[in-house]
Amino acid sequence: MEAGKKIKRIGVLTSGGDSPGMNAAVRAVARTALYYGIECIGIRRGWQGLINGDFVILTSDMVRHILGRGGTVLYTARSDEFMTEAGRLKAVGTCKMLGLDGVVAIGGDGTFKGALELSRLGVPVMGIPATIDNDIGCSNYTIGFDSACNTAIECIDKLRDTMQSHERCSVVEVMGRHAGFLALYVGIAVGATSVLIPEKELDFENDVIVRIQNARLAGATHFMVVVAEGAGSAIDIGQRIKESLGMDPRVTVLGHIQRGGSPTGRDRETATRMGYYAVRAFAEGRTGSIICTREGGIVETPIEEALAMKKHLQMDRYEILEAIASSGVYQGSK
Ligand code: F6P
Repeated sequence: MEAGKKIKRIGVLTSGGDSPGMNAAVRAVARTALYYGIECIGIRRGWQGLINGDFVILTSDMVRHILGRGGTVLYTARSDEFMTEAGRLKAVGTCKMLGLDGVVAIGGDGTFKGALELSRLGVPVMGIPATIDNDIGCSNYTIGFDSACNTAIECIDKLRDTMQSHERCSVVEVMGRHAGFLALYVGIAVGATSVLIPEKELDFENDVIVRIQNARLAGATHFMVVVAEGAGSAIDIGQRIKESLGMDPRVTVLGHIQRGGSPTGRDRETATRMGYYAVRAFAEGRTGSIICTREGGIVETPIEEALAMKKHLQMDRYEILEAIASSGVYQGSK
């Protein structure tokens, strides 16, 4: 962006896997833009839409009643074409054609890699982290995580009812791609017997079998094993439990249901703040950053730096889970 240049028009898009709260972010971007006297264009179908020139003009009315809606009214896509230089140059052409002075990209890691490439071609970009995986290193929180956790918790509570009646073992697979944030949070919240996450190498005997045995000795008659999709297949884990303990576990893969539904208050509120700060940065002449939450506040992190940051799972949560699940059984000198 040229120093001192007045921003007249920006684009906003959602890209990659959707997450509850994306609509709240789109609404905040559009409304804040109008507040600053900036026109806002919704780019449909993510980066692919920017290549194809697929857009809609966002008025204040157009974003009415979407704050509490799941999914994304702008649609989303994973674009192979945008991974190519030729595709990105077409996207730059669309930005010129539409007279965009900048683009707000709402999504996860893949979205931000695209944002970095586009900004290298001279298009000012601001990013907003939105993914149920909560795996963006620069930001403590990503839009959609809370909603997805609550959806998974609600489903597992229901599973527990029937597992309890039949005194069964349930193995539930949750999303999270390569990260265990969702699984660990949900596991603690449902009082899981064991949680398997990609950040910890699986020791099947100690992490699953001994946990179930300890829970039984402590008086439990039903067992809940939560498996992060990145840690392995719930079907395999169920089979191995059957072979080792002679139980007959029931396996549930929650899948995409975790990405749907109305966003929670936390997701609506965070998305609204992030949307506001992304546009305010443009209006004040700053660009090339991701809007992040850190220590309760909002900070801007340059995209390249943000992409290099890793988020580490707080392993004390894993220990908390172990302590609570095995409570009542003597743990030796632990
Ligand atoms: O990144 C969000 C996410 O839901 C992951 O948890 C999951 O691995 C992936 O997207 C599923 O992607 P798709 O919708 O393409 O099947």
